[in-house]
This record gives sequence, structure tokens and C-alpha cells, in this order.
Amino acid sequence: KKRVTTRTLIKMKQANEPIAMITAYDYPAAKMAEAAGADMILVGDSLGMVVLGYDSTIPVTLEDMLHHTKAVTRGANRAMVIADLPFMVAHLSRDEVLKAAARLMQEGGAYGVKLEGGREIIENVRALTQAGIPVVGHLGLTPQSVNQFGGYVIQGKELAAAERLIEEAQHLEQAGICALVLECVPEELARLISEKLRVPTIGIGAGRHCDGQVLVYHDVLALGGEWHPSFVKVYRQAGRMMTEGIAEYVQEVKNRQFPQEEHVTHLAGEIAEQLYG
Ligand code: KIV
Ligand code: NA
Repeated sequence: KKRVTTRTLIKMKQANEPIAMITAYDYPAAKMAEAAGADMILVGDSLGMVVLGYDSTIPVTLEDMLHHTKAVTRGANRAMVIADLPFMVAHLSRDEVLKAAARLMQEGGAYGVKLEGGREIIENVRALTQAGIPVVGHLGLTPQSVNQFGGYVIQGKELAAAERLIEEAQHLEQAGICALVLECVPEELARLISEKLRVPTIGIGAGRHCDGQVLVYHDVLALGGEWHPSFVKVYRQAGRMMTEGIAEYVQEVKNRQFPQEEHVTHLAGEIAEQLYG
């Protein structure tokens, strides 16, 4: 199957064909996402929370993102792989943003990058797109600002905030983004932004009218425990299954039920005889 490109995304939006995106952080997850037919794979900095055990995305470094982006791109073929720029990078100098994005593409093998923010990063978004880098925008509940928000709270509920979000989405489009992630915004607002933009919107907790949806791999498969935000749908209790599998292995080791004859190699008879004397 043909690779998903920026043109594929526009065509899908024009054809009203939903775009399915999921995060992945390593090679086997990328292979699964690919086999499942995902159009886009996000190496999200949610990495910090679901894989590295931090309590926000703030500690994630560019080196962390590179390490995991490399693994993901080795497992992806058709799907477009987008890598997150980690905390603060989008706000640094033009040169520093360009260098970070270039590393995610050249060393990491990413197709493009995603950055959180609106007006305050617009010049850097323009510099990236003018340098030929596919950029995915990210507005709404941008998790890198969690400490300023004072928690993970829905954005764009007041009129002024909603208007500001629409305006920022349009500025990002003018700056050349190829898609826009909308996180935790009211459905009506996400719908309006989706109608106003030519590039696709990809929603997470942003209702039914976005041009695509994205969820975190560990949420889809319940790999991270019991609690999930209300916008998540758990499709498989894979975490429970995996724990049960490991528990069975541990028990069988302790009961000496594993390994058995079928898992064993033997010495040739005469060599065994000589060894035993
Ligand atoms: O890091 C991430 O997983 C994300 C998605 C939730 C959009 O940015
Ligand atoms: Na992210």
C-alpha cells in the first residue's frame, strides 16, 4: 500500500474519509499499528507518562524522542510517522527549532513533527514549513502547559477562549501546517474549526466532527492500569491479559512446570556418557 503523505491527508479530508491516528513508542507497537491499518502514528511525548513513568510530559528530552522515534520508524511502512517536539523546544530560537526537527527527521526517520501552541510559536512554525518540514499543530489542552493550566482541564469553553482558538487554528494553517491536533475542546468548537480549515483536524477528546481521531496506544489497550479519561475508549484489556500471562509463567517456574521436554536440547548419548564418566 502507498505511503500516507501530506497530500493523502488533504485528499482524505476532501473525500470525508476519517483519518485514524494512534501513538506508538517502539518497534512492536509501530508494527501493530501498521498491521491494524492506522494512517498516522504519533511518537507522542506522552512517552514520558505511559512508557517512562514520569507524571507529565515535561521531563521528556529530545534525546528520548529520538531514541523512540528511531524504533517506531523501523516498524512503520505505510503510516505517516510524526514525532513530538518536546517541552520548550518550540519556543527556542528559529535555529534551535529547525535543528531539533531536522534531527527527528534525519536521525529518527520521522515524516514530520508536531508542536504544541498557537500565536506564540507561529514564526517558528513558518520557519519549519518553509524549510520543507511537515508540521502538525496542537491546540486546546496542550499537556506541556499543564503546570500553567493548573491541571488537565478542558480548554476553549468561554466565548473569548473559543474565538482565540479558532483564530490560532487559522494562523497555524496560514503558517503551513499539514494537520492540527485538537485536544480536549468542546465538540461544537472542534467542528467549527474543522469546517474552517482546509487541512485535517485530528481530535482527542474533541468530539465526533474532527477529520480524524488520535488516541494513546496504552489507553486503547488498557496497558496503564484502571483509570482513563472520559474521552478514551478501551478496545482491549490487553494489560490485564499480559499480566495474567506473566503470572502464569512465574507460577510455572516456581512449580517446575516450565520448562518441559519440548523446550529442552539434549547432548548426544555418547557425549553425555563421557561427561558423566
Ligand atoms: O503525546 C501525545 O500522545 C499527544 C497526543 C495525545 C495528541 O500529543
Ligand atoms: Na504530545
